[in-house]
Amino acid sequence: MHADILQQSSLRELRDDEEKPYELLLLADEKREAIQQYIHDAKIYILEKDAEKIAVFVLQEVTTMSVEIKNIAVAEAYQGKGIGKYLLREAAQIAREMGYEDLLIGTANGSIMQIYLYQKEGFEIAGIRKNFFTDNYPKPIYENGIHCKHMIVFQKKL
Ligand code: COA
Repeated sequence: MHADILQQSSLRELRDDEEKPYELLLLADEKREAIQQYIHDAKIYILEKDAEKIAVFVLQEVTTMSVEIKNIAVAEAYQGKGIGKYLLREAAQIAREMGYEDLLIGTANGSIMQIYLYQKEGFEIAGIRKNFFTDNYPKPIYENGIHCKHMIVFQKKL
């Protein structure tokens, strides 16, 4: 963990009157239209370092008991330094304080690093949204040479 980056950074909720950080959000979601479907009734949290937005996650209520991380992204220059792991822990803490019992996050069947990271952070497979990517995206998506067809939904008990 690059503790120095986190020490120089601060996490806060984005205000409604601020611009949405699409550059970061688009790292995790291929389509702006897909982001627009959830962004307006979700809470956006940003990690800032020297006024630069270096990471984001987005929480959206699913039921009164559960909330989903709809998007999580770290700017490319800051990836692989422990920030994603830090954000997952902060998201869990925020969701717990809000009174939710479950935290969900979905990823594609080809997103090997994310599948590894989420399980390492205490998420368990809760279901599969079959053909989610083939049904919702016009072009085939490949990650790690794998055709991403399905969304694996992970759940963490808070
Ligand atoms: N390949 C394999 N493992 C990797 C890796 C890579 N390229 N980069 C990081 N890891 C491992 C780390 O070693 C660490 O595991 P460890 O604790 O066993 O050492 C773990 O993954 C977490 O790494 P971390 O540095 O916290 O991840 P991150 O800050 O890069 O954040 C993402 C993870 C996925 C949020 C970030 O890479 C990202 O924004 N990616 C693009 C957007 C995206 O895919 N979002 C998720 C959509 S579901």
